[in-house]
Amino acid sequence: MTTDATGADVTEQALASLRTTADPRLRELLTALVRHLHDFARETRLTQEEWERAIAFATATGQACTDTRQEFILLSDVLGLSMLVETLHGDRAPGATESTVLGPFHMTESPVRELGADIDLVGGGEPCVVSGRVRSEDGTPLPGALVDVWQADDKGFYDVQQPGVQPPGNGRGLFTADAEGRFWFRTCVPAAYPIPTDGPVGGLLRATGRHPYRPAHIHFIATAEGHTPVTTHIFVAGGDYLDSDAVFAVKQSLVQDFAETDDPALAREFGVPNPFRHADFDLVLERAA
Ligand code: BEZ
Ligand code: FE
Repeated sequence: MTTDATGADVTEQALASLRTTADPRLRELLTALVRHLHDFARETRLTQEEWERAIAFATATGQACTDTRQEFILLSDVLGLSMLVETLHGDRAPGATESTVLGPFHMTESPVRELGADIDLVGGGEPCVVSGRVRSEDGTPLPGALVDVWQADDKGFYDVQQPGVQPPGNGRGLFTADAEGRFWFRTCVPAAYPIPTDGPVGGLLRATGRHPYRPAHIHFIATAEGHTPVTTHIFVAGGDYLDSDAVFAVKQSLVQDFAETDDPALAREFGVPNPFRHADFDLVLERAA
């Protein structure tokens, strides 16, 4: 029988071509993708010129990727896809720390640091202390838990965005929680910052009249034996853009007070000038099934 690749017929043919896919999950994903892409083109009556622009945009997005830049993750982030995927699988036990997007800047290993170390290797920002406990959902402390931390500097740039300006590892640290599951480190209060806008994703934001800012935050990945790791942030309470994050990643439970603290003895203990800002919160992990 001859085929006639027009209209609905091409959709049927494209779907039929996938039936030989051996991996059932891959078959399911590709089948849904083709169905949705064809419906999208039909619904919008996509023109040849628009299709060519879309291909050029995807090509430029790929070409903007390097060892230290992931423009495709950024695209997924600003379209809300990263957060949607994260939320679809983010169900946690009540009380467990909520997760949020990984983002594109965790592409380099965090240097191992002692508890109490300063991850702000440059200085200049407002000093602060971040502390807390890693514990299980039932309250049991998790000694030896790993707490991987990364943040932008006080001007809103990650070390990997400014090679030669910031030392590698600035704003990053891999800490091991003590015998009571506690962690603490010094840093500067993070600032709100724009996601990179000098590539295709920046063009998309401008075309849609959107601002590129993320509210001030610090990233964490907490890992402990027998528990599900959590990838998350803490956001600075009261900061700008908490209700218009360019990547839709704010969850209210993650907004933390960076409290003005006037306590000379505590400042001495942490090795910071008094007064200082202090964020204290627990990272609560769910027991692995
Ligand atoms: C970040 O917070 O590092 C980030 C997340 C998504 C897009 C860009 C940056
Ligand atoms: Fe970030």
